[in-house]
Parts: sequence; C-alpha cells; structure tokens
Amino acid sequence: RTLRIGLIPGDGIGKEVIPAGRRILEALPASLGLKFEFVDLRAGWEAFEQTGAALPEETVSILKSDCDGALFGAVSSPTTAVKGYSSPIVALRKKLDLYANVRPVKTVVSAPKPIDMVIVRENTEDLYVKEEKTYDTPEGKVAEAIKRISQRASSRIAAMAGEIALRRQKIRASGVPSIHKGPLVTVTHKSNVLSQTDGLFRTTAREVLADARFADVAVEEQIVDSMVYKLFRQPEAYDVIVAPNLYGDILSDGAAALVGSLGLVPSANVGEGFAIGEPCHGSAPDIQGMGIANPIATLRSAALMLEFLNEEAAAARIYAAVDANLEEGRLLSPDLGGTAKTEEVVQDILRRL
Ligand code: NAI
Ligand code: MG
Repeated sequence: RTLRIGLIPGDGIGKEVIPAGRRILEALPASLGLKFEFVDLRAGWEAFEQTGAALPEETVSILKSDCDGALFGAVSSPTTAVKGYSSPIVALRKKLDLYANVRPVKTVVSAPKPIDMVIVRENTEDLYVKEEKTYDTPEGKVAEAIKRISQRASSRIAAMAGEIALRRQKIRASGVPSIHKGPLVTVTHKSNVLSQTDGLFRTTAREVLADARFADVAVEEQIVDSMVYKLFRQPEAYDVIVAPNLYGDILSDGAAALVGSLGLVPSANVGEGFAIGEPCHGSAPDIQGMGIANPIATLRSAALMLEFLNEEAAAARIYAAVDANLEEGRLLSPDLGGTAKTEEVVQDILRRL
C-alpha cells in the first residue's frame, strides 16, 4: 500500500520537527509493505505573509483530492486580530470535517507515576463555532458567544472514544505492558449547570456507549471541574476521556503538563478516512533555529496518523522505538533535562526502529 502524505511544516520549529516525521515514516521496515509519497504544502504565518492566505486554497484542495493523510507542524498566530488571518488548523478541521481531536498522554511504564490516557475532544462545535457578538448597553459593553452542541457530533465523538478504548484493550491483550486493566471511557461535561447543551452531550454519549458493541467498555461520568482536580491527583485512573470541544482543549493541554514537556505529546485530527497528525506544541519561537526542539511529539503524531489510517502495526513500531529512547533516557532533548539535539534524538529513534 502506498500512502500519500501531505507535509505542512508551518512556522518556527514546525520546520524542524516535520522533516523528522517524514524520516521516521521513510525508515519503517519494508516488511510492513508500506510505501510513502510526500507532498509539501504551506500554511501559517509565513504563508500568509507570502500569499495573503494563512491556509492557501491549494493546500486544502491537494489534501482533499490527492492525500491519504497529513502531518501538520505548528503555526505562529498573532495575539491580536490581523485582517484576513485566521488559524489554518481550525479552518482545516472544518474543511476536511476532522471531527475528532485525539490526544494520547503517556509516560513510560516504568515512570514513578505512570500515566496512559487518551483525550478524545469533539472538534467541530461547542463555543468554537465562533459566533460571537459585542454590543453596547448603558452599563458598558457586553459580549456573547454561542455554545452549540449537536446530537450528531456528540454521537460520533462518543463512538470514536468507545472504539479507541476497545483498540487499546486489544493492544494490551497482545502483551504490550500497560497500567490499565479494562477499557474505560470517562464522559466529561458540566450538565449540572448547562443542562441543555452539556446535558445533550452527556445523554447522547451515554446512549452511544450503551450499545452492545461497547459491552466490554466501562463508562463513567465526571463533571469537568472535578475532572481537573482528579486528573492532577490521580491521572493513572484514566483510560479514555471524551469531552466537548472547549473542555477537551483545556483538559488535553493540562494533561500534557503531567508528562513533563509539550514536546512529547502528539495529537491527531480525525475524520472519515482521513487523519492529520499534529504535535500539541506551538511554533516555539524561543527555541526556533537552535536545533534543540524535541521531535517526539511529531514522531508520535506520525504514528497516531498511521493508526487512524488502519496501519496499526507500523504505528506500534514507531511507538516502541520512541518508548525505548525515553526508557533508556540517554539521548534526551533539553526540554526533558538532556543535552541532545533534535538530530541526535531522531538518529537514536531511527536506529531503534
Ligand atoms: P509553544 O508550544 O510554542 O511553546 C511553549 C513552551 O514550550 C516554549 O518554552 C517552547 O520552547 C516549549 N516547547 C514547545 N514545543 C517544544 C518542543 N517540541 N521541544 C522543546 N520545547 C518545546 O506555545 P507558545 O509559546 O504559547 O506559542 C508560540 C506560538 O505558537 C504562538 O504564535 C502560538 O500562536 C503558536 N501556537 C500554535 C499552535 C498550533 O499550531 N497548533 C498551538 C499552540 C501555540
Ligand atoms: Mg490547545
């Protein structure tokens, strides 16, 4: 099978880590029967300055018509509104209907407090429909935003969480060491306050996960604020967490803090038959050009993309090589307390592959 992969480095360290993602895919053993073709694509601040579009039309059309998946690095976004600029990854998620954002957060099994969870965040609605308005009142300005939750989006995200829980169970059953016993999905919401919006998310997720195909999956609920407390006190308790867009965004960045560096945490934006791997970190202007960015978030994102393209064996090879590098702990980048350059970390992982 030949997979055509779009490469969108973006800005800053995106340009340093995406080439590492390409190299690990190219280095996968031939025995897996996988070949890759790569297409270089543009998006981000530099693309905006050069072409006037943060997400050039060509990038979208090539991804749609000509690619099986993609790797997205990071883009630099201005902190105040710039006319004509809007976040390309948010637009890409919409245009390609990548309805799920999946973020595994994992330490090595031998860590003093091992963690191995996946946060499954709804990616298309909630407060991020960006329907905001500001108006004047006698007491000053008031701003409002729409929080939209649909049965359709809640249903498909819950089904994806259930399927990921079952897949993780299958991987554990194959003998990969794990801190978990059984598949568990934790449904996160705030339906005690937002009984209609979060209420719909909660009841829909419950219904979907009650289906016979998820009979082996335990389901629990957690109100989002106490979820944050428990996530920090007892992160080992979680297997798969499913949440509406905003809570999922916050929980997944918070969870990333538990494993020591943003440079370790991958994500995938997933739709029907398409996946974009994307490290959780941004363009890191403070270390850009120094050759010390941690490539692991991107390497794991490449593996995660492969998982959702049904290439689980190839994904497992990458995860194992990365874990072996971290377990040994000899060649670590500075964000993990080491002194290794990006290139040295990549070389070490390629050797283990
Ligand atoms: P950031 O993730 O770029 O950096 C936060 C801190 O983590 C920095 O100290 C950075 O050096 C460090 N860091 C991040 N990734 C690392 C890696 N792979 N290896 C070693 N250290 C790493 O977040 P920040 O500084 O808030 O944002 C910088 C720019 O990135 C902004 O323009 C922001 O808009 C953009 N950004 C883009 C994202 C995306 O494209 N998805 C996500 C987050 C921020
Ligand atoms: Mg975020």
